[in-house]
Amino acid sequence: MRTLDDLDVSGKRVLLRADLNVPLQHLPGAPVRITDDTRIRAALETIDELRARGARIVLVSHLGRPHGRDQELSMRPIADTVRELTGAKVTLAPAVVGEQVQLLSDHLAGGEILVLENVRYEPRETNNDPELARALAELADVYVNDAFGAAHRAHASTEGVAHLLPCAAGRLMQREVRALTGVLERPARPLVAVLGGAKVTDKIALVEHLLEVADSVLIGGAMSFPFLAAEGHAVGASPCAESDVDCARQALTKSAGTHHSLELPEDLIVAERLSADADPHTTATPDVPEGWLGLDIGPLTAARYGRAIAQAGTVFWNGPMGAFECEPFALGTRVIAQALAGTSATTVAGGGETVQALRELGLESSVNHVSTGGGATLEFLQGLTLPGLDALNATPVDRLAAQTAPASAGVSA
Ligand code: 3PG
Repeated sequence: MRTLDDLDVSGKRVLLRADLNVPLQHLPGAPVRITDDTRIRAALETIDELRARGARIVLVSHLGRPHGRDQELSMRPIADTVRELTGAKVTLAPAVVGEQVQLLSDHLAGGEILVLENVRYEPRETNNDPELARALAELADVYVNDAFGAAHRAHASTEGVAHLLPCAAGRLMQREVRALTGVLERPARPLVAVLGGAKVTDKIALVEHLLEVADSVLIGGAMSFPFLAAEGHAVGASPCAESDVDCARQALTKSAGTHHSLELPEDLIVAERLSADADPHTTATPDVPEGWLGLDIGPLTAARYGRAIAQAGTVFWNGPMGAFECEPFALGTRVIAQALAGTSATTVAGGGETVQALRELGLESSVNHVSTGGGATLEFLQGLTLPGLDALNATPVDRLAAQTAPASAGVSA
């Protein structure tokens, strides 16, 4: 993969695609608030390096999924935060592309940053429209993609434009790929994957792929119920669609007879309702009484999973073990987070709720790599090709050379 080491950026206009899709809070009468600026901070390494090397930065990102020019999803608060964090001269462009934006990019000085408006204000972005890719390419001399979190999208700013300019991966992209590749290829063994969260259908492909590479896959959270149901246990009123049970059965069949173990809870924390003042009970078997909810893995399971993490060479964690936002059901997630923080194994964590749990426990910095990707991380670990990454490895077409080439170029005599 070409990186910033392979690209001359000095004095150049650099179109930098970052994933600055951060959560926002809109309260009536109050300015928009960024509730978690992790993704902006994660982009700083590349921004700082580009500025130090004299580049003129045109920064582009999506924010949410706007329908048209939704003012609530303007890049203004992001541009303000980039200004605060970098101390650079930062200008917010009035649009994504167009004459005015072109003028602003042409007049950028070294170290300055032009933040384009939300690239999804342009409906052509998600269609990977070649005209939008061309207009974006016109704003710069080279392209750097640092948006790992959006690398699974084949959009104009993540894929199309990479074919039109000399391009390279940014430092965050490089770190993400290195850490996640380390999980899939030649990990220190045993490799333990801990998977939790809600919907098994969203993660079944991940479970199946990890079963091929990991020594053990430990299942917790709501996604354990389809697995437990497939093994004949009662799940009470816990969420458990029949289609999920089929998926779980498939994964169990796949793991049977291999040396890759798929591990399930042996006890659970259950309650009649999800509430901080609920009366939680610990079950002796992984069965949920009729009408009750399974809301966390039990202490025996948590201890067993913790031991597996302590003995691992590499650990990947995605998805909480229970309804951790509610204290009576936070134990399982806390034990896993603490086990990750305490092990000498290489640790990688990903997923919004997982990162939130680590942060709330003050353990984020104890994990070797916390991925900024959501869907992108899961797709990467399923062994799928990410279009944003793939495009960076394609042969670059020098835009100027292509423009000045004679009309007959490419036609053999
Ligand atoms: C994410 O939040 O996972 C990325 O920013 C991608 O966003 P998207 O799912 O709206 O494409």
